[in-house]
Formats: sequence, C-alpha cells, structure tokens
Amino acid sequence: MKIGIIGLGTVGLGVLEILVNESKNLKAKGADIEIKYACDLDHDKVFPNNFDKTTLIKNYETILNDPDVDTIVELIGGDNLAKKIILEAIDKGKNVITANKALIAKHPKEIFSRAIEKDVNLFYEASVGGGIPIIAPLLENLVANNILGIRGIINGTCNYILSEMSHNDLEFDTVLNDAMEKGYAEADPSFDIEGIDAAHKICILASLAFNKTVDVKKILTNGITKIKLSDLKLAESLGYSIKLIAAASQNNNSISISVEPTLVNKKDLLSNVEGVFNAVEVEGDYVGKTLFYGRGAGKEATASAVVADIVKAALKCTYKDRHYFNIEEDAILLGENEFSGKYYVRVGKTFPELEKISYQIEQIAEEYIYFTNTIKLKELKNILGNEEYSLLRIN
Ligand code: HSE
Repeated sequence: MKIGIIGLGTVGLGVLEILVNESKNLKAKGADIEIKYACDLDHDKVFPNNFDKTTLIKNYETILNDPDVDTIVELIGGDNLAKKIILEAIDKGKNVITANKALIAKHPKEIFSRAIEKDVNLFYEASVGGGIPIIAPLLENLVANNILGIRGIINGTCNYILSEMSHNDLEFDTVLNDAMEKGYAEADPSFDIEGIDAAHKICILASLAFNKTVDVKKILTNGITKIKLSDLKLAESLGYSIKLIAAASQNNNSISISVEPTLVNKKDLLSNVEGVFNAVEVEGDYVGKTLFYGRGAGKEATASAVVADIVKAALKCTYKDRHYFNIEEDAILLGENEFSGKYYVRVGKTFPELEKISYQIEQIAEEYIYFTNTIKLKELKNILGNEEYSLLRIN
C-alpha cells in the first residue's frame, strides 16, 4: 500500500520513525507499506536515519492528485485545511487515517457520510487516548454490550500539569511550558487547559458508546486553569487527587456528558493515573467495568496508534461501515442546568447560603473553600452570582 503522510509535526515524525524502523516487521505481519510522500512546509527537521528524503514534498495536492496513493495520513490537526484535505482524499477514493479529534468531533456527519458513500476506510484510533486502544475496543470488542458509562482521564497535558504541580509543589504556568516543550500540548494549549480537547475526545467516545451523534457544543466543559497548588494540597490532605475527568452516561432518555476538574478519592484507580498517562473506564452491561490505560499523548505513543490504523488499512479491512457511529440519530444531552453533584467551591468571601448546604468549610489565606452536599449546578451558580469562583466536582 502506498501512503502519503501530510503533517510532519511531533506525531508525524513519530509515524515516520516507526514505519522506517519497523518496515520489515510490519511486512512480516502482512502489511507492505510504502511511504510515497511525506508532506510538510518545513523540511528542516531531524528525520529518522534511513528515511528516504526524496519523498519529501511541500504541496499536499501532489498526494491527492496521485492515483497511485491508496491512503493519506492526515496529521496537521485543526478543522479547516484538514477537513478540506480529508474530504478531497475521500472523494478520490483514498483511505484516510487521522488523529484529528477536533475534526471527528465537530464534523462527523459530513466526513463519515462521505466515507460511507465512497466506500473508503476512515480510521481514527489515535484521536482519543494517544497510544491506548479505545476506538476499536468500543466498536469491536465491546460491541455485544449496551454501554452504561464511560469516565476517564483523556487529556495528557492536563494530567501532566496536575501531577507535576502536586508532586513538585509547582504553580500552573511553570508546568504548562514544560508540557508544551515535551510535545504533549495542542498547537494552541488553551484547547488542553480549557477542557476543549477532552470535550472533543469524550464526544467521540460517547458517540461510539451510545451509537448516536453527540453535539460537542452541548457538552458541559470546564478546564483546569483556575486550579492552584493550594487546592491540590488541600485535596491531598483529605484523601483526594484532582483530575480533569471526562464522563458520559446514559440517563433515562438523555445522555449526560461532562468535562470537569474533579476531586477523585485516592481509593479510585483513576486517582493514581499520573503524568501524561490516560485511563478510560468503560462499563458495559455484560462485561462490567473495563479499564484502558497508557500514554495519552506524545510522539511515540500516538504514532503507535496511527501506524496500527495504517496497517489495518494495508490489510484491507472489510468492516468499513462498522467503523462509524450512527450519524442518523442525534443524542439528546442533559443540559448544563440539569447537572447536579457535590462540589468544591473556592471563593474570596463567605456565603451563608453555601454554609447551609456544605459538609465542610476550610479557609486558606483570604479564600474560603466549601465542600457542598449534592446540589444542582444551576442553584450553586445562582448562589455564587457574579463572584469569582473556582469549582470542582467531588467524586
Ligand atoms: N494535547 C493532547 C493531550 C494530545 O494532551 O492529550 C493527545 O491527544
């Protein structure tokens, strides 16, 4: 199979490395893969030894216009040019491998319907969980089950930041730069720290799990930007870690989906997921709880998932239609106002109304921390009004 790789950033270079170094092994496993083109505007990079630099090009149109290329590997990210390239490749009958979570989460109907119509493979294992297999398990291995719920840590950058802050007594900004240097963060890291990347990923997982199309804009999404070292320390002293938890569960007729910074009890496995690692717990009605754990971001781990998809395409998988969730049925999502739970609220003044509904209150310097009993998010926000606050769910 002849492929064209578009985008040679962190993940793209990782894919080149595996394909070049493991070419023989992959061939022995039945996948004969030839890199016909590797496309990027910048050719001044450290390429793997033995990589054939004559395959380097700058214009992706060359790949799209070459009938000899069976499969394109889109690794530029974002949802403008990437979308154009993917749709054009599908129209030309090429398979598409992508790690682009934003694109799949935002435009599944357009992309999947086109792929189904043109009868090509479109694989996106690397879009969620980096190197962890999670898309294929939901589509294949767990297909017998009605999925009851999914919860997990699916943004490596946020988990790395929270772990580093907690273990090394560092403040947020210092650690964010570190995560960017390590190649974990998105090109625009606000996608990570504001919870948007995790929302894209839980959108894809929930769509697969419940076999309906989830509107990513309707997901309750909060990031980790307001978390201070003092929050982590207080949580720690009370037997909790703070994690950015993405969750989706079936709820009568609707599905509740959220991304929220959360106090996770130390007894919970998820509280021990550290650094760039991700973990996704999937509960099915027959299988019970399953847990997928591994590196959720970074060059090699993500490239491992991309190459697995390339091999799958090279082996000419035939279960094309089953690689998609149902784009004919829209999921009904629980609105933000319907969410309820116990919350950790840090605020700069006392609130008598919060005192009444809290089981614990702490004070750190000029700030008050309320641990509320179960309350509707809407009611809590009404009480807090226009005051600056930081809000975390308590699991
Ligand atoms: N920025 C993403 C993360 C990369 O940190 O999880 C992997 O999708």
